[in-house]
Amino acid sequence: MTQLLGKTAIVTGAAQGIGRGIALVLAQDGADIAIADVDEPRARETAGEIAALGRKALAVRCDLIDQRSLQAMVDRVLAEFGKIDILVNNAGVYGAAGWQREERWRSADWDATFQVNVRGTVFCSEAVAPHMIGRRAGKIVNIGSSASREASPLSPHYHASKAGLLMYTQCLALQLAPYDINVNCVCPAMVWTQMQIDISNWRYEVKGEQAASPRSIFEERMRKRCPLGRDTTPEDIGWAVSFLASDRARNMTGQALHVDGGAVMR
Ligand SMILES: NC(=O)c1ccc[n+]([C@@H]2O[C@H](COP(=O)([O-])OP(=O)(O)OC[C@H]3O[C@@H](n4cnc5c(N)ncnc54)[C@H](O)[C@@H]3O)[C@@H](O)[C@H]2O)c1
Repeated sequence: MTQLLGKTAIVTGAAQGIGRGIALVLAQDGADIAIADVDEPRARETAGEIAALGRKALAVRCDLIDQRSLQAMVDRVLAEFGKIDILVNNAGVYGAAGWQREERWRSADWDATFQVNVRGTVFCSEAVAPHMIGRRAGKIVNIGSSASREASPLSPHYHASKAGLLMYTQCLALQLAPYDINVNCVCPAMVWTQMQIDISNWRYEVKGEQAASPRSIFEERMRKRCPLGRDTTPEDIGWAVSFLASDRARNMTGQALHVDGGAVMR
């Protein structure tokens, strides 16, 4: 595919997991990619994989909770690439450092999820928007979750943050529509990344769920929630992001596209 040939994209949190999958698909579809992540060594590894596909790749260390770090990242990408066509706000957390050992959610977990999942997306979008407004062109894709629309008794802080992210997506879509900038959300569920490995280990070890292994907890949840009954992969999410970042989605804005094996239908 070459639908993104000549485009440049920033993907936050692309050092691993879903973000890495998105970055690779966008590169396969023709885009040059900047990987913005707090984990610089792993971000460099993803950049190496993208360069091997024949695209320009830049790894930039950046912490979404620090507005100055975000602005410096955007300035660096503009200096290296000259323009930004696509912003993918993917980086997210399930709690503050060490949440995997805690029985109950702490105020630090509420703070971390809102700081990274919501405020990080706001600040990153605000750092890129003036450039896109100046060009009267751009695509912003936020990574929400089935949690954006489904309640949970287990992790209300995370679900509330992802619901907030979806509402912000729709507010930003209204703000930027006059400049022909599209803002949408892709909502995954059940992707076997480090985040899901941590959640499954936590349910098994800390919450004491009865199962043969953490992976079997994941598979049982998937069997109950997803009619299609198979793992969603990072590439599945990348394909949806690539579509929303392309001109084929030029008349979509403020939407949530659920890529989750049918877990959420609305
Ligand atoms: N895995 C799933 O099943 C699933 C389901 C629904 C939604 N999501 C969402 O998809 C996105 C990616 O999740 P994942 O499963 O790949 O998670 P992951 O934990 O495997 O990867 C997250 C990436 O974000 C980076 N990151 C975290 N905090 C950061 C910060 N402050 N600044 C910069 N980078 C930061 C990490 O270094 C890492 O590279 C998240 O927004 C997550 O909420 C995941």
